[in-house]
Amino acid sequence: MTNTHALRLEIATPSRSYPVVVGAGALQDLGSALKESGVGASHFVVSSPTVWGLWGEAFHAALPEAAPIIVPDGERHKTTAGAGRIYDGLLKGGADRSATLLTLGGGVTCDMGGFAAATYMRGIRLAHVPTTLLAQVDAAIGGKVGVNLPGGKNLVGAFYQPSLVVIDPHALATLPRREFRAGLYEVVKYGVACDRALFDQVCREVGPLTRRDAAALTPVIAACCRLKGAIVAADERETGARRVLNFGHTVGHALEAGTRYRRLLHGESVAYGMLAACAIGVKRGSLAAADRDTIAAAIAQLGPLPPVNDLSAAAQLEFMRHDKKVHEGRLHFVLPTGIGSAQVVTDVSEADLLRALGDLGLGE
Ligand SMILES: NC(=O)c1ccc[n+]([C@@H]2O[C@H](COP(=O)([O-])OP(=O)(O)OC[C@H]3O[C@@H](n4cnc5c(N)ncnc54)[C@H](O)[C@@H]3O)[C@@H](O)[C@H]2O)c1
Ligand SMILES: [Zn+2]
Repeated sequence: MTNTHALRLEIATPSRSYPVVVGAGALQDLGSALKESGVGASHFVVSSPTVWGLWGEAFHAALPEAAPIIVPDGERHKTTAGAGRIYDGLLKGGADRSATLLTLGGGVTCDMGGFAAATYMRGIRLAHVPTTLLAQVDAAIGGKVGVNLPGGKNLVGAFYQPSLVVIDPHALATLPRREFRAGLYEVVKYGVACDRALFDQVCREVGPLTRRDAAALTPVIAACCRLKGAIVAADERETGARRVLNFGHTVGHALEAGTRYRRLLHGESVAYGMLAACAIGVKRGSLAAADRDTIAAAIAQLGPLPPVNDLSAAAQLEFMRHDKKVHEGRLHFVLPTGIGSAQVVTDVSEADLLRALGDLGLGE
């Protein structure tokens, strides 16, 4: 089947403009998409054993000349050592500055492969073929690349835009159900923070979306890419507008860290973070209780979240004090003001925060 219904968007950032192709079957047309975007003929692909095992053959059929560099994924492998293995693969394969590195995998592969591309020989071309929903709607768009240090997540990195992003919703067919759902929570994030129509669309089409129907997924993924692309274009280095995309992430990051990245997937912690932000918004009078209920119902509709009621709210607060979103001692908090709009505030009191965590079921 050829890719007849692919949507094509253009993301224009101050540093580079590039196409994002979204559609069922887009992977098959990767070769021509690369050619159209003007990248050279020397191609390498970084992927993980899991993703290459599932999708390597299809990738290879689309781009036989790309030499694979296989490195493990999963958060604990997103390290400088992992990037080092990619450099080794590039060097062994004779990659010079005209080479293009493609990433085929989830957010870990995007971030680590992107970081390797940004730094190998001071930067070679990069193209993403994301295979998790989270990577398709978030990690592959926006140009943030990086790896973790033992002291914390994403502490080494760069802003480095790809030359092309090719998103094939068919690739999601093999994704574990929980990973898929975690991506859908991030989609809800976009809807609540910036786009009521997208939020309504997700609520309306939750059946086809959870069945991973490509016809339902394609416009939703494209909408998220368009939103992130527009925001990144206006604020490539995350100084202002881009912060609304952190909706749900202040509490989310604390819960992830508080459970040592073992219990909650990123999207699941963001779902909790959105619920906490809604509770704070209602308490401050900036969000209508009815909107909070609609948002909570949308999150609940996507399926169960792992329990957090054995965690301590005070301990999560401690994690938040160390968050990167603390600027000059003030915690930046994204609060929805309705469905489709949000504001960044810096005056959420610790008492309000503790109360919101209590609402999620956390103990003292
Ligand atoms: N750069 C950014 O702007 C940005 C944005 C959001 C998240 N991230 C980063 O993304 C990472 C999380 O990404 P993720 O959630 O995709 O996790 P991941 O990359 O660890 O992938 C999750 C799991 O899914 C597997 N997988 C991937 N595609 C598959 C497929 N099609 N079928 C079956 N299994 C598949 C992987 O092997 C892995 O085990 C984090 O490191 C986060 O920091 C970056
Ligand atoms: Zn996120």
